[in-house]
Amino acid sequence: MRKLAAGNWKMNGLAADLAEVKALIAAHPAPSCEVLLCPPATLIAQMAAARGGAPLLIGGQDCHAAAGGAHTGDIAAEMLRDAGASHVIVGHSERRGDHGETDAAVRAKAMAAHRAGLVAIVCLGETLEERRAGRTLEVCAGQLAGSVPDGATAANTVIAYEPVWAIGTGLTPTLAEIAEVHGALRQALAQRFGAGAAGMRLLYGGSVKPSNAAAIFAVAGVDGALVGGASLKAAEFGAIVAALEAA
Ligand code: PGA
Repeated sequence: MRKLAAGNWKMNGLAADLAEVKALIAAHPAPSCEVLLCPPATLIAQMAAARGGAPLLIGGQDCHAAAGGAHTGDIAAEMLRDAGASHVIVGHSERRGDHGETDAAVRAKAMAAHRAGLVAIVCLGETLEERRAGRTLEVCAGQLAGSVPDGATAANTVIAYEPVWAIGTGLTPTLAEIAEVHGALRQALAQRFGAGAAGMRLLYGGSVKPSNAAAIFAVAGVDGALVGGASLKAAEFGAIVAALEAA
């Protein structure tokens, strides 16, 4: 299984910021892990042009479940692919929170990604209240069961465990807590998908930065990271890529 360093630019990035992509490629022209950037949809085609022949992967941050139609403002998975994307994030906690996306909606989006030939990065994770109530494993297992479609394979699906309270806060779970959730998710995947799930990658996300990346990547069951804020600058994201290569 190749590890994956994924960056989520969220609602950040103008054409001028593609300079960061060029700097990232210059510093890491042939990474031993997969490197993915998910810019706002407005930049996907330009980022695809900017990468040239470099092995940088590009993804969307969300997609609609339908392939087309009267859905003003939405973007179909097929459109992301057409623009140059190979991946799409679905079910990010900001989508679940800001737009009321349910597990069923996230599952439909993941199925749309698969229909379009995209790898779906399915996000899940507990809130602080849920962790304090001792419900972390139950909540994550429930989101995994509800958000991941039956057709998921190691080739078309990546799972990102992102505790909601760790996103953009500078807070992270302990390494033991990350290991516990990843172990439980791996077990749930094996129960549902059998041997086919063995290679499905489990990313950790939430306040990953150069200073904590190596320790997180050393945790058993962590196959990479989904990085928000620290993915915006080539120097920071490049340091995280280097930590994953060394893990
Ligand atoms: P963060 O975001 O790295 O800024 O905490 C992670 C994410 O939302 O994917």
